[in-house]
Amino acid sequence: ARTVTRTPEGVVSVGGIEVTRLAEEFGTPAYFVDEADFRARCRAWREAFGSEADVFYAGKAFLSRAVVRWLHEEGLNLDVCSGGELATALAAGMPAENIAFHGNNKTPAEIERAVEAGVGRIVLDSFQEIARVAHIAERLGRRQRVQIRVTVGVEAHTHEFIATAHEDQKFGIALAGGQAAEAVRRALKLDGLELIGIHSHIGSQIFDMAGFEVSARRVVQLLAEVRDEHGVELPEIDLGGGLGIAYTSDDDPREPHEIAEALNEIVARECAAAGLRKPRISVEPGRAIVGPTAFTLYEVGTVKPLEGLRTYVSVDGGMSDNIRTALYDAEYTVALVSRSSDAEPMLVRVVGKHCESGDIVVRDAFLPADLAPGDLIAVPATGAYCRSMASNYNHALRPPVVAVDDGAARVIVRRETEEDLLRLDVG
Ligand code: LLP
Repeated sequence: ARTVTRTPEGVVSVGGIEVTRLAEEFGTPAYFVDEADFRARCRAWREAFGSEADVFYAGKAFLSRAVVRWLHEEGLNLDVCSGGELATALAAGMPAENIAFHGNNKTPAEIERAVEAGVGRIVLDSFQEIARVAHIAERLGRRQRVQIRVTVGVEAHTHEFIATAHEDQKFGIALAGGQAAEAVRRALKLDGLELIGIHSHIGSQIFDMAGFEVSARRVVQLLAEVRDEHGVELPEIDLGGGLGIAYTSDDDPREPHEIAEALNEIVARECAAAGLRKPRISVEPGRAIVGPTAFTLYEVGTVKPLEGLRTYVSVDGGMSDNIRTALYDAEYTVALVSRSSDAEPMLVRVVGKHCESGDIVVRDAFLPADLAPGDLIAVPATGAYCRSMASNYNHALRPPVVAVDDGAARVIVRRETEEDLLRLDVG
């Protein structure tokens, strides 16, 4: 969040509101999102890519109706990957033509809903899906705009579970062995489909532009092959999301304008070399937009020093509101935000209240040695893939998301209640 400041007493405030007040009003744990920061990041991406390109925010990072409205107001499009995300987007008034529908196994019902709604594009992920979407579109008397997602064979240097463009994984259709060319051949033949381009997403939390270079180059090569074989120049390419953010001071993220310049240049160069018109580019940043804009606020419950090891600090949330540390060994920082302290730093591990020892929020950090129950601590950069991957493990109640802006705070996703849990339990 960009509007974070500290009062002389050491209380941190965001959007002009002190966290102690936020905790009183909204409780903990809770996610606080800096609306002005979110909008500023949307604008930075929009402006970096200009009118020649489209920016699709990846809703899987975090989606709610308020977020959809912010995106639409800031001129962004939206990438959804499930019927639930599609329903949220449509409910909040995102025009269907600004929506891209992704996923490696969209159900027939989801596809039908998307085609009926008139989504701008469906990104096809397999041969079966090419036939399935064509069939549904024909049955509905539509011609659905589609892209084909290809795997370009790039090893993105990120965690195995979030790398997606190497060959041995479930997404997309391989360029290798002529698979992608065959997919294009089939799609071009089907009346229900209007093939508008090729899509490639190489992974997530990436800092090195080299993978995008290779990806763009190989996608343009495919466009050239398609032109040679079919005499058609596909008008669009999508290079996916995946731009990394700073979770700790070791991370050095690229700015949107650097990314836009690099991608535009590579695509222009490769197209010139192949004698192709430059296609319209689109990108799908999720984390890079929402990740840095929010933090999680926790209250310290217990402080347990383990002689010679470290001190375990238990908070009132845990792996149910941030699974990323347990799942990807993700790194986070943490700060005492409800007061200042002159105490020496002590080595801590911030853990949750769940019934397993892997329930770690911040693996290694330093907090003041006088940390005590009742203190508020904040974990920054939790805007992406924390609330959206939150669970009810141990019947935890998923925390609210509160938008702060210019001295005002409002709940955009409310805290779950025990009634919410019991309502689903109909036995
Ligand atoms: N486009 C496609 C097709 C994707 O699959 C994804 C992410 C994105 C865009 C957005 O990527 P981003 O810009 O947010 O990195 N749960 C993991 C991340 C999984 C990402 C899945 N796909 C995590 O917490 O790191």
